[in-house]
Amino acid sequence: MKSLLARKPVADIIAAADTPGRRVPKVLGPVSIAAMGVGAIIGAGIFVLTGTVAALNAGPAIVLSFVLAAIACAFVGLCYAELSTFVPVAGSTYTYTYATLGELAAWVIGWDLILEYAMGGAAVAVGWSGYFNGLLGMLGVALPPQWVAATGQAVVLSDGTTTTAVANLPAAAIVLLITALLVGGTRESARLNNIMVAVKLTVVVAFIGLGVFYVNGANWRPFIPDNTGEFGSFGVSGILRGASIVFFAYIGFDAVSNCAQEARRPQRDMPIGILGSLGVSTVLYILVAGVLTGLVPYAELNVPDPVAKGVRVMGHEWFSLFIALGALIGLTTVILVLLYGQSRIFATMANDGLLPPVVGRLHPRLRTPWISQISIGLVVATVAAVAPIDVLDELVGVGTLFAFILVCVAVIYLRAVDPHAPRPFRVPKVPWVPLLGILSCLGLMSGLAPTTWLRLVIWLAIGLVVYFGYSRFHSRLFTKQ
Ligand code: ALA
Repeated sequence: MKSLLARKPVADIIAAADTPGRRVPKVLGPVSIAAMGVGAIIGAGIFVLTGTVAALNAGPAIVLSFVLAAIACAFVGLCYAELSTFVPVAGSTYTYTYATLGELAAWVIGWDLILEYAMGGAAVAVGWSGYFNGLLGMLGVALPPQWVAATGQAVVLSDGTTTTAVANLPAAAIVLLITALLVGGTRESARLNNIMVAVKLTVVVAFIGLGVFYVNGANWRPFIPDNTGEFGSFGVSGILRGASIVFFAYIGFDAVSNCAQEARRPQRDMPIGILGSLGVSTVLYILVAGVLTGLVPYAELNVPDPVAKGVRVMGHEWFSLFIALGALIGLTTVILVLLYGQSRIFATMANDGLLPPVVGRLHPRLRTPWISQISIGLVVATVAAVAPIDVLDELVGVGTLFAFILVCVAVIYLRAVDPHAPRPFRVPKVPWVPLLGILSCLGLMSGLAPTTWLRLVIWLAIGLVVYFGYSRFHSRLFTKQ
């Protein structure tokens, strides 16, 4: 029991990360880090989910759903900023939990983060495939429908007949391509990421800037459509349910914390990266949602490419192509940062002995955790090829919210047990801000379907089997005692 609760001292965590075999080059500055954040955040949430939520849950009041989800993320973002400067090593929530709640809780969270990072990567890859297919369609090229959808899904062939899909090949292909890039080197990946993030931001800003001239104010009325009698279907409950779903759009600001070890000056750069990327994304989301619902009547937005539909209303064909391409590039950066984060978490867990040592090994020349990166790439590519996006989205949401709650708990706990340690960034008004973070995450979780909760429980149970079957006996903390 004692070993299950054994905590890894913060000083040990920092010292261990700085040993020769594990030292990684410090190549990331504040702009690259914030770009990594924006790269991870703006993706399928705004390009795909905005339309669905406006059409089915909130109407034009989706703007308020984005505000509610942003408030929850802001509380959590402050907590991440404090912890990533206090414990500036890779591993994110996993590392923070190890330092606070002990090994078993850390394992649970590390296992849970697979839902956020790996499954998140798979979900966005499926969204990428949709936009890729749409773009090819605009260029007059059609891929066989049975090779661009999740296994078993019904698809309509060009002759009008229906068949079931075999696998989503473009989704798997983009995952493998990004994996190869990440294995090649962090600096190169970050550079390419910066360029792609700039393209994505240009597209989003251009949509807002041009779209605002085509807004028809009548589309914003009623701003909050009447509830249909069912919870979550318009009205106030629709705004709340919408917030639970569009929360997916904010996932990724926390991935920035994985850069801490590779940051040149984590004390200054981590808060800038986390809070800056969250702030930029929030403003853009609110504006995109506002313009989009002003361009198209909300009831017509339940399409796979709502932003492109908004552009079509403006009547510029070239601009549709530009937006579709920008969305594709935007989704690519999200996958990149999520796969990057997952490999760093696995490598950290392997260094602690909770996963086989081979997972943490750096490539002798490239200095990247290549074995874990390739293994993750293969698994995520397989999931992206076979699983439907809605199941993946919900799993990602519940897994991430669970991790966020533990981050808030970690801030409160560390302040209590280690109040005088130097904290380059401090959350204001502890414990109130972390407590509000916990409450708002619980609020968002309550909006998710019961089956999603069940899937989370099953996933965590599998994790416990692995822990008690392998990790517990190989843990460095345990074998030392
Ligand atoms: N926030 C990311 C997205 O919306 C996961 O794609």
